Amino acid sequence: MAKEINQFDTKVLVHRDLLQKKNKTLIALNDEIESTLRETVFTMGVIEERRSKESKDHTKRVTLYSQLLAHKLELSARDVEIITAATPLHDIGKLGIPDEILLKPGKLTEAEFAIVKTHTEIGYSMLKHSKRDILRAAGIIAFQHHEKWDGSGYPQGLKCEAIHVYGRVVALVDVFDALISYRVYKEPWELERAVDWISSQRGRHFDPDVVQVFLAHIADFATIREQFPSGLSNEHGFAVA
Ligand SMILES: [Fe+2]
Ligand SMILES: [Fe+2]
Repeated sequence: MAKEINQFDTKVLVHRDLLQKKNKTLIALNDEIESTLRETVFTMGVIEERRSKESKDHTKRVTLYSQLLAHKLELSARDVEIITAATPLHDIGKLGIPDEILLKPGKLTEAEFAIVKTHTEIGYSMLKHSKRDILRAAGIIAFQHHEKWDGSGYPQGLKCEAIHVYGRVVALVDVFDALISYRVYKEPWELERAVDWISSQRGRHFDPDVVQVFLAHIADFATIREQFPSGLSNEHGFAVA
């Protein structure tokens, strides 16, 4: 009887070890799938960045700024993970805008600008049907990153908290990066000038709480920018827009 109980115990232990091993393998596989998705999404963002002739490393910087800001805003760990993974696709809808408008040097006509604005809806329609958290979040960000806190943004003219927090975060970091980077129509602004302007947009263009947290940690944002400078347009073989 005692021998049988011992044998039974041994079998249970063997099964437990096997289950633990299988569990570890499943966790590793799941991590592999998530990181493959993250890398693919980031690469799609870089493809869009190149095609739109964005300033060098715009996708990288905006993604890092989003991650930092979401973290400092004390969003949940999962939210920080999702916004970080989804931010690279904020302008993916620009793939649907014709070259002659997207890459036009100089000022756009009103009609052309109206077409550029549709990149928000195009991006959303590309991503909204996904069942994956990261891609669904990317759809929200693509749709809402040009909305403004006071309701004067596009495409829906959403106000305040009707704009998803992912949209409010990316709206700020995207503009911050544009201000301090080279554009065909302007030199990069000094950090101080960009900070003053963003500060003046508290409660207008941007969520006041998001601005406050951003300003409180401006030194950390400046460090990211130093790590990935936007560079000069001709230096990288493509102009900046
Ligand atoms: Fe955009
Ligand atoms: Fe952008």
